Amino acid sequence: MVADNAISIAEAHFSENAWFRAIYVGESPAGFVMLHTGYDYDEGFDCHGVFLWRMMVAGPFQSKGVGRKAIDLIVADLKARGINELYTSYGQGAAGPEPFYKGLGFLPTGDFYGEGEHREIGVVLRW
Ligand SMILES: CC(C)(COP(=O)(O)OP(=O)(O)OC[C@H]1O[C@@H](n2cnc3c(N)ncnc32)[C@H](O)[C@@H]1OP(=O)(O)O)[C@@H](O)C(=O)NCCC(=O)NCCS
Repeated sequence: MVADNAISIAEAHFSENAWFRAIYVGESPAGFVMLHTGYDYDEGFDCHGVFLWRMMVAGPFQSKGVGRKAIDLIVADLKARGINELYTSYGQGAAGPEPFYKGLGFLPTGDFYGEGEHREIGVVLRW
């Protein structure tokens, strides 16, 4: 399940480690990304690297390369800051984003987060 963007933005204001941006295609708002940029177990981030916390592209803009471009821009920004990896996690259901992340080169870390229907596989992209 993907959280509502308003919930994500509210959460971000309670986190010193949140970085978030809207995705625009031209003048049109098309999506949202949020990173967690530091280790903080209190927020449930048992991860020492930068973590892609939320990522969504709005329906009409999906499957047009917008998500890939957003990840490319995030990677370029992290690279410029001397960071060489990006973590994330996702649910592995049939309609889930696994093909998207696999296609970008994210690989399993061996970690899993959550339980039952909320269980997510941890993955990392390194460059
Ligand atoms: C998953 C999501 C972020 C992908 O963004 P997008 O803009 O639709 O993806 P892109 O068009 O950039 O796709 C990049 C590649 O991934 C593939 N891909 C993307 N979503 C896919 C899917 N659901 N199934 C299969 N392939 C998919 C594309 O075919 C494309 O492959 P190609 O470059 O070889 O042609 C977006 O569809 C989305 O927000 N979905 C709903 C919310 C969600 O699941 N968020 C992730 C939470 S962890």
